[in-house]
Amino acid sequence: MRHPSPINTGSSRLDLCPTGLDPARMPSHIAVIMDGNGRWAKAKGLPRIMGHRAGVEALKRTLRLCNDWGIGALTVYAFSTENWSRPGDEVNFLMALFERVLQRELEALQLEQVRIRFLGDLQALPERLQDLIAEATELTSRNSGIHFNVCTNYGGRRELVLAARKLAESAAKGELDPSLIDENVFAAKLFTASEVDPDLLIRTSGEMRVSNFLLWQLAYAEIHICDVLWPDFDATALREALADYQTRSRRFGGLDPINTDYIDP
Ligand code: IPE
Ligand code: IPE
Ligand code: MG
Repeated sequence: MRHPSPINTGSSRLDLCPTGLDPARMPSHIAVIMDGNGRWAKAKGLPRIMGHRAGVEALKRTLRLCNDWGIGALTVYAFSTENWSRPGDEVNFLMALFERVLQRELEALQLEQVRIRFLGDLQALPERLQDLIAEATELTSRNSGIHFNVCTNYGGRRELVLAARKLAESAAKGELDPSLIDENVFAAKLFTASEVDPDLLIRTSGEMRVSNFLLWQLAYAEIHICDVLWPDFDATALREALADYQTRSRRFGGLDPINTDYIDP
């Protein structure tokens, strides 16, 4: 899906849109590669795990801002399929952190009507974390607020392979005619099924790559890369990303119907 109407933007929330931004041109869905925790810690002479801790605070801040500013969905990259290659201590710390934070924040998420989901190959996660994820997903599934997707043990390639496998299985059983597989049928097998595609991708810490994130869904996302390290990401940085997004002419392969100066008379 592309260029959708906002999922969930009650006018009271849009009233909170920060000055300088056009409430009618806010993205429906923001995706974030939260990068730079380790460098943030290193710059302060701290162990990397302190960067991850501070990163949680930045995430809570960003979720609240997006919810307040009328963004329908926020999808964040918390742990990639490649992050298992980090030192065992760091991986273990991250898993324990996810568990602690989810436990601690569940009540607040519920109060703020956040609908949380975890996208990724969840079976490889520690069992206690899996249980907590199932509980949080179910508890918040009927909430009316922002869709908050946390990509955990997520890899874009893994997601595409799993989708292809599901389709192949249905076809092999004779339940699906392969000639009927189109973009919509395929997208319905992704972790993000039922979510609109992100309009805006933000990557912090200045890295200019997608690192296996939402390879399918980012097809027409606008990309904003900022030098801020994730733990420092705040209202100013988010506002800047949104202001940058609002300068873009989104053409989806066509011609811009509003800015017509480059079109033949
Ligand atoms: C992002 O920060 C968080 C995760 C990948 C879990 P990093 O840990 O990648 O921080 P840098 O890139 O080393 O600074
Ligand atoms: C991407 O960051 C993954 C997450 C933010 C969870 P990385 O730090 O793992 O990406 P690379 O290694 O710099 O590409
Ligand atoms: Mg990194």
